[in-house]
Amino acid sequence: MQDYHSFLSEILIPEEELKTRVQALGEEISRDYAGRIILAICILRGGVMFLTDLIRHIKPPVAIDFMGVASYGVGTRSSNGHVRITLDLTTSIADRHVLIVEDIIDSGNTIASVIEMLRTRNPASLEVCTLLDKASRREVNVPIKYCGFVIPDRFVFGYGLDMDEYYRNLPFIGVVDLEKYEAEV
Ligand code: IMP
Ligand code: MG
Repeated sequence: MQDYHSFLSEILIPEEELKTRVQALGEEISRDYAGRIILAICILRGGVMFLTDLIRHIKPPVAIDFMGVASYGVGTRSSNGHVRITLDLTTSIADRHVLIVEDIIDSGNTIASVIEMLRTRNPASLEVCTLLDKASRREVNVPIKYCGFVIPDRFVFGYGLDMDEYYRNLPFIGVVDLEKYEAEV
């Protein structure tokens, strides 16, 4: 297992910047959902760190649940729109105010499929909160209510996001130098 320094191109979002922005998002959500109860649905596994930090800054009552999704027939660095559930929710979302919490929206295919699946379960409301948005890569239009940072088209890792399942534990968002990474794998 490589030390991340060997393929870290640059730190895109330092820890302090993440903290400040996540707190601001939590406060915005608190204002918008005042008087309501939230069901935050974390899309595994990348959204976990963002979810746990975010909900600490949300004032209205929050319940959490988790959903695992996987793309069909493609590598981990892109998706093609065909998504299946690998782990389903354990609670009903009918008539509840659902907030989907994602790590990153790239082509938009994953979140578009999740939205479509969840809509059929009749939530009272359904909104998306993503930490990162690679807006220039979007293939399908998805409604994003809350976004932490719009980022350039680079492969990023840390703060929940993985490189081949590792490095999610890093407290910052870093850019991967893919040439250096592939050279050592
Ligand atoms: P989409 O379906 O193309 O929007 O892809 C979304 C999923 O791809 C995310 O939930 C991530 O799991 C993964 N992904 C996309 N870009 C990155 C990245 O730069 N780093 C880590 N994972 C990424
Ligand atoms: Mg993800």
